[in-house]
Amino acid sequence: MNATSSVPTPDRLILVVEDSAQIRNVISKALEMEGYITRQGKNGLEGLELLKEATPDLILSDVNMPHMDGIEFFKAVRQNSQWTAIPFVFLTSHSTSEDIQRGRELGVEDYLTKPIDPDDLVRIINARLYRTAAVEVAQVGQAYLDTVKVLANAIESRDKYTRGHVERVTTYSLWMAKALKWPAQHIRTLEFGARLHDIGKIVIPGQVLNKPEPFTDEEWNLMKKHTIAGAKMLQEIPHLRGTLPYILYHHEKWDGSGYPKGLKAKKIPIQGRILALADVYDALTTARPYHRARTHEEVVKIIAEESGKHFDPQLVPVFIKIMNAKRAQATK
Ligand SMILES: [Fe+2]
Repeated sequence: MNATSSVPTPDRLILVVEDSAQIRNVISKALEMEGYITRQGKNGLEGLELLKEATPDLILSDVNMPHMDGIEFFKAVRQNSQWTAIPFVFLTSHSTSEDIQRGRELGVEDYLTKPIDPDDLVRIINARLYRTAAVEVAQVGQAYLDTVKVLANAIESRDKYTRGHVERVTTYSLWMAKALKWPAQHIRTLEFGARLHDIGKIVIPGQVLNKPEPFTDEEWNLMKKHTIAGAKMLQEIPHLRGTLPYILYHHEKWDGSGYPKGLKAKKIPIQGRILALADVYDALTTARPYHRARTHEEVVKIIAEESGKHFDPQLVPVFIKIMNAKRAQATK
């Protein structure tokens, strides 16, 4: 079984537009045997009428037809904003390379040559639908990421001391995940988690967030709530559920003295242990009201000293190595 045959076909509607009844029937039978539903039209005009009744997942159209040929039909389909994304496959004969050229110029990507081999037909249609589905998934993923960026920036803009923090923490965490050879899917979740890690700060009043003096105990206790508050905000969003360990556990410490749960060592999910390194590195290398910006070398020393206390002793050398390498690259 190849990748393209895994396209789910139930309820997939294919519009077949072809003037030869015999060819239409052969095509429709082959597709129906694969689980597709088909509708048939004799020419472009009939095709347009059928399109108004139901939007197909793909259009398969002959080029040479009476009344309205395939090229005119394709142009009419693309002029309607509702139909611009429907994949379009042309049926051509060997002798019509001019038609292929014209179709290419208009943006038709796929062709089937007559006489049609049913195996080729199903393979091409499956491949085309698979490609369309993959593009849709990528677009939805990008839309989620864009939304998350807007959300994270909105939260960050409330805190005047930490501008750019989310972007840098995300970059450092991604370097770490790549150094640890995480699979692409986990890296993607990490990007979302790193961007959203402080989203729970939305519950912290602005005057506390932007206070130049040290926090009182009461204010600290309030600040600590941002981990649980953030997790509560996102737990109902299935697509973002994978980010919860980042949000919940980035303030846990290896020796158990962190929050919100005081987890120890490997009981702290790896997501939290990685993010803690990136978060603290950035906090220390940037100026805050209560401390100056420390140098890379100073921060690396602090992190090394905190190995086995604040940080995972196995991750610390990996983090220092990658940060040193990136630092050396940047200062070249
Ligand atoms: Fe935080």
